[in-house]
Amino acid sequence: RADGDTAAAGSGINPAIRKEEAKVVDTVLAGELSKPLTPYCRCWRSGTFPLCDGSHVKHNKATGDNVGPLLVKK
Ligand code: FES
Repeated sequence: RADGDTAAAGSGINPAIRKEEAKVVDTVLAGELSKPLTPYCRCWRSGTFPLCDGSHVKHNKATGDNVGPLLVKK
């Protein structure tokens, strides 16, 4: 942990996704995307993580945050 990092131990941005993993990493082969535009979650609240399921809307309303998905174009 770097000096100046004020995050408390045990806190973080991921409340529940794949907590058994030391680090959550996903790989996407862009050429194999089935849709022209695929939204990926950046709020860590999606029930279909790593894909966005719109849960950021509820999170933003509840917290005043402004997070949204990463849109990957094929
Ligand atoms: Fe997380 Fe949309 S559900 S960014």
